[in-house]
Amino acid sequence: PLKIGVLTSGGDAQGMNAAVRGVVRTALRLGAKPYAVMEGWAGAVAGGDAIRPLAWDSVSSILQRGGTIIGTARSAEFRERAGQLAAARHLLAHGIDRLVVIGGDGSLTGTNEFRKNWPSLLEELVEGGDIPAETAQAHPELMVTGIVGSIDNDLVGADMTIGTDSALHRILEAIDDISSTAASHQRTFVVEVMGRHCGYLALMAAMAGGCDYVLVPELPPGRNWEEDMCLRLKEGREAGRRESMVIVAEGATDRAGNRITADDVKQVLSDRLGESARVTILGHVQRGGRPSAYDRWMSTLLGCAAAREVITMEPEAEPVIIAERHNRIRRLPMMKQVEATRAVKDLVAAQDYLAAVKARGGS
Ligand code: F6P
Repeated sequence: PLKIGVLTSGGDAQGMNAAVRGVVRTALRLGAKPYAVMEGWAGAVAGGDAIRPLAWDSVSSILQRGGTIIGTARSAEFRERAGQLAAARHLLAHGIDRLVVIGGDGSLTGTNEFRKNWPSLLEELVEGGDIPAETAQAHPELMVTGIVGSIDNDLVGADMTIGTDSALHRILEAIDDISSTAASHQRTFVVEVMGRHCGYLALMAAMAGGCDYVLVPELPPGRNWEEDMCLRLKEGREAGRRESMVIVAEGATDRAGNRITADDVKQVLSDRLGESARVTILGHVQRGGRPSAYDRWMSTLLGCAAAREVITMEPEAEPVIIAERHNRIRRLPMMKQVEATRAVKDLVAAQDYLAAVKARGGS
């Protein structure tokens, strides 16, 4: 039977288990043999029992579990030639040349590099006597399919990435909980949420949580944002609101590209309103715990489609990612989407840079 590997890479996300389960069970149903590559690419580099076959019941009762049962890591070794040589050798020892990779844009970029290097890696392994020439001839290409697993929801082209919905639920639970203590004391809370360069979690949480002000990286606030924010909070209080809440994305900056932290906001509130606000940094609680219903069923569909894709793909076909787009499961060109995502990040960085130059009086 065809052998396919599945791995989760980068930060974990709720729903990754459902995707792994979908991959494994679809592979078995289609007559392929699925393998887990444990701890992401680090497992491929390490070899040994880090690459292990999975059976139907290896993925039983995992739909409701957070994280990823096959482990994840950000592997520095895999970025080096020596690491990639080891990974190719270890995968081939099991006859694996088809992989489903579940991870963020960094993981997918690394995967594509590995895929492109595959023929030359095999050549080197044959020359070094590490693998027989027949093995290299039998597996001339590495076939990969991606699924985006990241709570940040930062991949261009996908409506929602795995884990985003659950993270949002977690944030809202926290906001609701904080609201009652905030209201009791008539306090303002400044809540920092994850998302790296992406403000999706912050914006949606602010909207769904009825918060007063939100700072996101995509739309750095204007020059007088401190005044504007204080005015909004004051108006809310005057209208009878007992609690106030400001959401700060962890990647938020001002127009000059300087980070705006939750503590900065707290300081502004103290200086301008004389308020002693409280800061809550939600941190990894957002990435932990049970996946939402959406993250379970959507990730299942993505996993099933990805297994089917990788099993049926032709050796020289361009790799795709399987993603939800416009409420449908779609095949999107992997590198085009990753490059588009990078371009957005670069644009935000370029805007920050230009604003900083302008602020210093440059042109
Ligand atoms: O990419 C997911 C994410 O949770 C980001 O929101 C956050 O910036 C980062 O990972 C945290 O990484 P780590 O778990 O390595 O601290």
